[in-house]
Amino acid sequence: MIIQIADIARYVGQDVTLRGWLYDKTGKGKLQFLQVRDGSGVIQAVAFQKDLPEATFEMIKGLSQESSVLVRGRVRADERASGIPGGFELGISHLEVVQRAEEYPITPKEHGIEFLMDQRHLWLRSRRQWAILRIRATVVRTIRSWLDDHGYLLVDTPILSPLAGENSTDLFEVDYFGEPAYLAQTGQLYNEANMMAFGKVYCFGPTFRAERSKTRRHLIEFWMVEPEMAFFSLEDLMDMEAQFVSAIVQAVLEKHRTELDILERDTSKLESVLPPFARISYDDAVERLIKVHAQTEDPELKAQLAISWGQDFGSPHETALAEQFDKPVFVYHYPSAVKAFYMQPVEGRPEVCRSVDLLAPEGYGEITGGSERIHDAELLGEKVKEIGINPENYRWYLELRRFGSVPHAGFGLGVERTLSWICGLKHVRETIPYPRMLNRLYP
Ligand code: 4AD
Ligand code: MG
Repeated sequence: MIIQIADIARYVGQDVTLRGWLYDKTGKGKLQFLQVRDGSGVIQAVAFQKDLPEATFEMIKGLSQESSVLVRGRVRADERASGIPGGFELGISHLEVVQRAEEYPITPKEHGIEFLMDQRHLWLRSRRQWAILRIRATVVRTIRSWLDDHGYLLVDTPILSPLAGENSTDLFEVDYFGEPAYLAQTGQLYNEANMMAFGKVYCFGPTFRAERSKTRRHLIEFWMVEPEMAFFSLEDLMDMEAQFVSAIVQAVLEKHRTELDILERDTSKLESVLPPFARISYDDAVERLIKVHAQTEDPELKAQLAISWGQDFGSPHETALAEQFDKPVFVYHYPSAVKAFYMQPVEGRPEVCRSVDLLAPEGYGEITGGSERIHDAELLGEKVKEIGINPENYRWYLELRRFGSVPHAGFGLGVERTLSWICGLKHVRETIPYPRMLNRLYP
């Protein structure tokens, strides 16, 4: 019977066939220990010379790493066995090679990051990458299921469009049959039209930023989920975000203890991620940062933490703020000048806007960004002119404010930054199967 390693517990005492790859092999004389992986798990398969034809045993002894194989044998329960799932072993009775792998470039020894990035198509087979990308699948699934279950409708938005969703500086321009078009920085503007048709909507797909940023938080292509809600205030938005983000974290804790163990993630910091999350204003945040700055002795960090009212936060600021809380923290009412054109000014204080960023703990920085949107046609028309793209391309967007405009709000959550935080990774590059970065388009 052909089975998956993930289901191995059901077959103790039975003869089964596994189809997979040789992950690793150790041996001493008459005994060979093969780590066989099939994508669903890893198991130790033991070849005992006396149980196998001479030729088969010799072939096993010479088997190369990542050779593809069919392995038949009896499943044994053994508490000490360290596979995934742990506690099982296979006594090999037959082994067939599908393809004998050439010398595999990624060996169990340490490799440099650029080398591994060049080998990304093979590196995906490693245990850590396996763990990360399985958690990613759960993050994506939970995003969809939570929104679907809470009355949000998935409405897709285009990747190619004639306008800039966020700004005109980080745009990828393509030639659309002689007209300029841009890869989506966000689905938000179309989301706002969809929201007026369906009430609560979301779009979820890849987004693109031609940003010349080379940090551990930036990708050129990343996945973003963007909910947009009619009649939502900034306060409603923060309530909803806290529920949503908590649900994602708790789903990962529930399903992925094994993967989090592989990543050596301290899960106690994730357990506490439950609503509510603290909310501080930008003004308050600046005051807190000025205090932190005054108390910082390390000259390099002190220089990075310098801040005055009106400036946007950099990573060191976000980290310092988040350190004051054990859960994600909302920072609201940023200066209008550092935020996108579509954000609603605060009444009586237009120098700040009805925006909110959610900062993750442990130095992971901004994982969501959102706001109330300008719902006044005239004001939005003024702002659109400042973007630097033909305002005619925004005509439909401005029309939304003329046919039953309502207060509304929405946000975007970056999958990779969120995953990086949940997995406790140093860099977002491992959170997406094929990262696109400033200096990387291969593989
Ligand atoms: O703050 P951003 O730019 O917001 C928007 O695009 C809004 N239109 C969303 C909305 O209101 N519908 O991006 C939202 C999130 C960030 O908080 C971050 O998690 C992620 O997207 N993000 C990136 N992730 C990786 N690499 C980049 N270069 C990113 N830029 C933004
Ligand atoms: Mg942002």
